[in-house]
Parts: sequence; C-alpha cells; structure tokens
Amino acid sequence: MLTEKFLWGGASASYQCEGAWDLDDRVESMWDHYLHEEQLENGDVASDHYHHFEEDIKMMKEGGQNAYRFSLAWPRIIKNKAGEINEKGIAFYHKVLDCCHKYGIEPFVTLYHWDLPQYWEETGGWLNQEVCDAFEHYAKVCYDHFHEKITHWVTFNEPKWFVCSGYLIGNYPPCFRDTQKTIIAAYHVMYASALGVRAFKESGYPGTVGIVHSFTPVNGVDDTIETRIAMRYADNYCNNWILDTAAKGEIPIDLLSELSKNYDISFMKPEQLAIIRENTVDFLGLNYYSRTLVKPYTEGETTFVVNNSGKEGKGSSKVIVKHWFEQVMHDPNSTYTEWDTEIYPKGLQEGLKEVHEKYGLPIYITENGIGMYEDVTVEQVQDDYRISFMEDHINAMMNAADAGVKMMGYFAWSAFDLYSWKNGCEKRYGLVAIDFEHDLIRKPKKSYGWYKDMITGNIKIQRKDL
Ligand code: NOJ
Repeated sequence: MLTEKFLWGGASASYQCEGAWDLDDRVESMWDHYLHEEQLENGDVASDHYHHFEEDIKMMKEGGQNAYRFSLAWPRIIKNKAGEINEKGIAFYHKVLDCCHKYGIEPFVTLYHWDLPQYWEETGGWLNQEVCDAFEHYAKVCYDHFHEKITHWVTFNEPKWFVCSGYLIGNYPPCFRDTQKTIIAAYHVMYASALGVRAFKESGYPGTVGIVHSFTPVNGVDDTIETRIAMRYADNYCNNWILDTAAKGEIPIDLLSELSKNYDISFMKPEQLAIIRENTVDFLGLNYYSRTLVKPYTEGETTFVVNNSGKEGKGSSKVIVKHWFEQVMHDPNSTYTEWDTEIYPKGLQEGLKEVHEKYGLPIYITENGIGMYEDVTVEQVQDDYRISFMEDHINAMMNAADAGVKMMGYFAWSAFDLYSWKNGCEKRYGLVAIDFEHDLIRKPKKSYGWYKDMITGNIKIQRKDL
C-alpha cells in the first residue's frame, strides 16, 4: 500500500531546463563553460523554464500531480568564492516556490544537480576540499532563505554519475580519466553531502533531507562464487559508496581496502569521517532506469564506452573494470533503448526490497522514465511506449510497497522535455512535449493524460508479479 501523502510528480534540473544562463547576474557554471568551449549543444535556452515556470507548474497541477522535483542553481544563488548572495537568484526561486504552493504542488528540491559554479571549477572543483565548505555555505543560504517554502531537501543528485563521468570516464566536465582523482572527488562529494545534512539538522528547520542516487541493482549471470565476487565489486562501484556512506555513515571497508592497494586514501581524515558517520540522511531518493548485469572479469584493460549518440552508437556501450567485473550489455531476453538502456522493471521491484532491507529508510523514486526520439510537431505525441514503461515500473514499485518497502513518492523523469546533457535535446523524456524549434510550445503527450488518470484513480495499474 502507498501512503496517503504519497507524492506523485515530475522532475527536472536547473541546468537542463531553466535557460537564461547569463540573466539576472547568474554566473557561469562548469557546464556552460565546457559546452561553450567545446562548441557542443548546450542549455543556454533549454526549455526556458526561467520564463515558463508558471505555465509548466500549472500543467503539473492540471495533470493531477501534487509534487515537483527540481534543483536550485548554485551559480544563480552565490556570485563568487567569497560567498556573496545574488538577490535576483533568490527572488527567482521565491517566485517558483510561490507558484508551486499556489497550485498545491509540493516542492522537492535538490541543491546540487551538477551545475558547479565555474569559479569553483577553476580552483580544482571537487578535487579541492574548499569546495565542500563552499557547498555547506550555499546549502545554509538556501535553508535560511527558503525553509518556509521547502520541507523536502536533497543534497546531491547522483554522485556516482557525475563523479564517474567527470573524473573516470571523461565524457562530462572536467573530463578526467584518472582513478586517483575519482576517489578524491567521490570522497569530497560525500563529505560535502554530510556537511549539508549537518547544516540542515543544526538549523532546526522543519522537514527532511536526503540524497538522490542513480540506482542500478546488480544482477549476476549465474550463481557461482566468482560471479558473486564480481557482483560485490560492481555493487561497491555502482551503489554502495553512495548509499552506505549517506545512509549508514560508512564507506564500504572492502572497497577502501581494495583501493588502498594501488591508490592514496590518506587524505580521508578521521574528523571528516566522523562528520560522515554522524550525519546520515533521513530518506533515499532513487533514480531508476535500469539494472546492471555482471560477469567475472576475463581480460583487457579497464574500459568505459558510453553511448551518448543514440541510434548511431546503439550497441557500443561497454564497461570493464580490470580485475573487478565486466558488465553484460546484451541480454537476449531484454529490450534496449537507442541509448543502450535495458528496460527491466523487475530490477526496480527487487532493488527496492534490497535497499529497504539494507537501510530501512523511507524511499522516493526521484526519477524514472524512458528517453526516445520523438516528432513533437504533431498535435499530440502518442507515446504508448512511455505509458507501458511507467505502468510496468509503477507496478514494480507497488509490489515492493506491498512487500513492506516504505515508498513515499514517485517522480517521472521528466516533467517536460528538456536538455539531456551530452545527449542534447533530441533525447526526450518529458510528459509534456516542448518544440525547441518553434517558440518552445508546450503540448501534453499521451502519457501526461495517462499519468493524470492513474493518479486520480480513473485508471488502475494492471498488477502483476515480476
Ligand atoms: C539522471 C539525471 O539526474 C538527469 O539529469 C538525467 O538527464 C537523467 N538521468 C536521464 O539520463
């Protein structure tokens, strides 16, 4: 059973939807800088939510939703390294929050969804421990200004994704391929998250604070001991360093022991580890797109190939972590999107149970959805594939709730079409279509109406065991 106060909503992120990148004294983020330098598709305009937020939030209300997950842009709120506040940025978010409340939409707010101010990136970004203190300052500014309007806070969105993409795989800024740097950045992000949690608890403001993780439950190809060892390595790499650290205050010791054989971990100081231990989150937000199927490592160097080009790159994705595990990308029984994401709702059902057993915390699905190419010039996008994707995943979540998992909310990714990082705007996830070529016109897709009917009880989810 889902709780009475269950949140049903859609999600977005500041850089992906706001646009207005240099308006009202917003400063450059690391993504603006990188995408401009590399002349890649960017979020300068994106969905122009900065000017359309009222229309977007009203549509959520009209779509039967009662919550909106979005992020605040650090570069809109803090002007410089000295920590000076940009009053215009604060005023903008007050307007957004007031609008949410006007329409009865509960704001579910992330402090950091990857848009680090470039002035911090230039000092080393997440490799620089000062950035952790700067994050704490930024978090406090947000709590102090918005505590009357926000009671659901998230410190970080997907540490695994942005740290590994930025420091290990190299497809996101700052584009390093360096394991030592990855370990440092990962640690600093988790430490900064704990500082953000501590600041919230110390403020005494009402509400709860959590973290959002790119959750991918790990499955093995068989039940041999070798596969089970590979699964543990993969789970440490994909999930445990975020979830154990945020929820239990402990970085997995077998992971640290393994890393310490070849890398320096002496920068992890006891007083910081104590802060991590003492400031665990109130809830977990899980973004679920797919599981990770693994087999034992066989041969070859560590390899990461991410398909950021959709149909042109279909089938090219590859993950090998030398001596640890290999990811199996092609299960003949599964279907995959053009970006190589396996569609696997059972992973959500089983994964939720696992997370519940391990941590016992309340859980929100903070993102779930499917990225597709879509022609949005038609009157209505007939996204039946999205409806069936959502139906199957909501069924999986309900099964987990029936098995005792404390489910608190579900957010579709995304509330409306937006800019999808290296995949650009043509990878669409929205319940509402945005025609980026024609005045950013908004048109609800078929899934928007289906979601409304599901939330309001006009349509019942076809329950099945997975
Ligand atoms: C996770 C991220 O939080 C979001 O920014 C991204 O666009 C979606 N997944 C889709 O890949």
